Amino acid sequence: MNMKIIQSPEEMQKQARLLIRSGISIGFVPTMGFLHEGHLSLIRIAKESADVAVVSIFVNPSQFGPNEDLDAYPRDFERDEKLCRDAGADFLFYPSVSTMYLNDHSIWVSEESLTGVLCGASRPGHFRGVCTIVAKLLNIVQPDVMVLGEKDAQQLRILRRMVRDLNCPATIIAAPTIREPDGLAMSSRNKYLTPDERAEAVCLFKSIEKVKELFANGERDAEKIKTAVRSVIEKTSGRVDYAEVVDNETLRLVQTLEKPVLVALAVKFSGARLIDNTVLG
Ligand code: PAF
Repeated sequence: MNMKIIQSPEEMQKQARLLIRSGISIGFVPTMGFLHEGHLSLIRIAKESADVAVVSIFVNPSQFGPNEDLDAYPRDFERDEKLCRDAGADFLFYPSVSTMYLNDHSIWVSEESLTGVLCGASRPGHFRGVCTIVAKLLNIVQPDVMVLGEKDAQQLRILRRMVRDLNCPATIIAAPTIREPDGLAMSSRNKYLTPDERAEAVCLFKSIEKVKELFANGERDAEKIKTAVRSVIEKTSGRVDYAEVVDNETLRLVQTLEKPVLVALAVKFSGARLIDNTVLG
């Protein structure tokens, strides 16, 4: 099947309803474009999990804070289009901001329990924007499955909660983080790193490897885990935005690692803020 590009939300919704009526299942990958191997792995999973794969590309203004990188966010539609086609996508949904947010848009989706820590704490309003756009995309694309990356660990947990609490008729599949050969998690924002920073950015992965080793050797004190993360990052020009140990389900801060925990960190370099995480236990 030749990949179809659809810009209008109404047209995409009409197409989705036609597919559903014909008994064709839909796999969905929401993205903000500037695709890399991580996104392509999600598209392949969508394709394996459903009859057709729909990819959306939409740089969602409402999830960027006033001093964040909305205008500078990398965009390259031609390249993305080719990558989607090659990865086997059947539909590429590429709406404009004005069709997704009408001038008098006034309904928002907020999560109220999992957003107070990690990226939610350092990017106020971010997850309100993410939940709102993903709820809209789910209503438009009406997928059976939505594939999300584990790299955005908090986003994944919040969107699972949204799908549960709003009874969205989609199943979420979580896909593992895809890494560069040196371990750096793939991200569209890696492009902003200077060559020196790119070499240093592997520190996020190194800090994760370090805490995995500590955990394997019996360390259960969250403070020591956080200190270990910080000590690896502090050897570079990166600045720790946060390094936290939280309950893997509730995202509440923990002091002792008794149940599975999420160790998550965000590091600011001159041109990019990078995130990474691991689950221990
Ligand atoms: O993870 C992303 O790229 C975005 O947050 C998403 C899920 C596409 C919503 O804009």
